[in-house]
Amino acid sequence: MITKTTRQFLLEHPQMKYVFFGGKGGVGKTVMAGAAALWIARQGKRTLLASTNPVHSLSSLLDQDVFGAPTPVQGEPNLQAYEIDTRDTIAKSKAELTQKIEWFLKYADIKTRADEFVESATMNPAFEESAMFENMIDLMFDDEYEAYVFDTAPTANARRLLGMSSVYSMWVNKMVQSREEAKSLKELLSYSKKKEKDPLMDYLLNLRTRMEKAKELLTDEEKTAFFFITLPEALPIAVIKRFINWFREFGIPVGGVVVNMIIDKEAVGEDAPEFVRNRIAMQDAYMEEIWRSFPNVRALVPLFETEVRGTEMLDRTAQHLFA
Ligand SMILES: Nc1ncnc2c1ncn2[C@@H]1O[C@H](COP(=O)(O)OP(=O)(O)O)[C@@H](O)[C@H]1O
Ligand SMILES: [Mg+2]
Repeated sequence: MITKTTRQFLLEHPQMKYVFFGGKGGVGKTVMAGAAALWIARQGKRTLLASTNPVHSLSSLLDQDVFGAPTPVQGEPNLQAYEIDTRDTIAKSKAELTQKIEWFLKYADIKTRADEFVESATMNPAFEESAMFENMIDLMFDDEYEAYVFDTAPTANARRLLGMSSVYSMWVNKMVQSREEAKSLKELLSYSKKKEKDPLMDYLLNLRTRMEKAKELLTDEEKTAFFFITLPEALPIAVIKRFINWFREFGIPVGGVVVNMIIDKEAVGEDAPEFVRNRIAMQDAYMEEIWRSFPNVRALVPLFETEVRGTEMLDRTAQHLFA
């Protein structure tokens, strides 16, 4: 039994602004993000549907090119969609990192080229992930929309960020402190008393502020909610159980659980093929597990006769997501 629907949840959180959907691959994250964005936009909020995932699918979902810039969705005056250009972001992050390492090396009087450090740092797949995460944070900070729906929750990243943030904070504070000491020593030793510009220090202070602000937004129960999507199947259930535990641990607000692709029994006659009856029996068993495991199921979405594409199908999905 659903005790609180998605619609009721949003009514109880009128300031809701950042909505995320997480779950195993293929469970319908992109579809639900699209449906939610459409619904929120039609409620009258200026809404951005954004994808930070390097493997984009919004253009295909909406049947229009939304790559590289926020693009108005046809026929929806309050909705824009945006697939962020991953390659562009990574190139920018690389350039930024190079600059920072150069500052650092120069300050420490080390005669090594920054490139070597940068190459090894950016070979790591986590680098792409964190570049994407930065992009998402930037969008949130720009604050140009009344609501944001993100396709593909940066699950591991959000968790890492929040888990790391206190460690990070300590580290940044330590760095700031030692830079201040180094600076005053440098000033003492130099004959000229003119103040040196310190871009690395500015960067560290800025980073600390950004981290604090990101944490504040991502843990704000009134503004942020992560919804987790599952199918009535073993693996997707196991995945979101894990996610929900992580998120609770880090104080990230969990909006609830959405169950997708449920076979409509009424549409299936008594004389249905054994294959279909078996799948229904399997779903029934996993639905019981879902009710037992999640007290916060918000919506049940049926398996449609076709894939979900275009605003008409998204609207149909939204009718269930916000029933
Ligand atoms: N309720 C549904 N009924 C029918 N097809 C669905 C439903 N939900 C999702 N799909 C289809 O399943 C596929 C996977 O959905 P998608 O949103 O891309 O998953 P994810 O983003 O989690 O990988 C897509 O082809 C989508 O159109
Ligand atoms: Mg997707």
